Amino acid sequence: MKQSTSVLFVCLGNICRSPTAEAVFKRKASEAGLNIYIESAGTHGYHIGKPADKRSQAAGVERGYSFKGLKCRRVDESDFERFDYILAMDNSNFKNLLGMAPSQYQEKIKLFLDFADVEDKEVPDPYYGGKRGFELVLDLIEEASDGLIAHIKQAQ
Ligand code: 4NP
Repeated sequence: MKQSTSVLFVCLGNICRSPTAEAVFKRKASEAGLNIYIESAGTHGYHIGKPADKRSQAAGVERGYSFKGLKCRRVDESDFERFDYILAMDNSNFKNLLGMAPSQYQEKIKLFLDFADVEDKEVPDPYYGGKRGFELVLDLIEEASDGLIAHIKQAQ
C-alpha cells in the first residue's frame, strides 16, 4: 500500500552518503510523527547487496542512528514512478538521475541540500577520505533532513 509520502536518497555507491541519509531521515521522520516511506539507492552498482560502509555505520551509530537491514542496491526504472522525492547527494548523481528518468518524473529529482541552509549544495563523497569526512556527511544530512521534514509538513 502506498503511504502518504515517499523519499528515495541517491548517491554513487549507496554505501556511504545515501544509506546515512536513509538512517538519519527514518529516525527524524519518526520523531516528527510523519508517516514517510524511505529507501536509498546508488547510480552505480559497485557494492550491490552489501551493508553500509563500516565507517559510515560507526559515525552514524555514535549519533544514535540505525543501519540495520540496509542493503546496497542500484537505482531502478520503477523508482521514478514509485517515489515522490528523489534526492541526489551531489551534482553528478543529480545529472545521472535526470539522464535516467522519464520526462514526466524529472521534477521529482532534486539536490538533497536544497533543503539545507548551506551555500555548497553537495554532500562530499567521504569514501576516500578520513573520519572528518563522515562527520561532515552527518552534519549536512541532519540539517537537510530537518529542512525536508519542515517542507513535507507544510506540503501535507
Ligand atoms: P557513496 O560513496 O556514493 O556515498 O556511497 C562511494 C562509495 C563507493 C565508491 C564511491 C563512492 N566506490 O567507488 O566504490
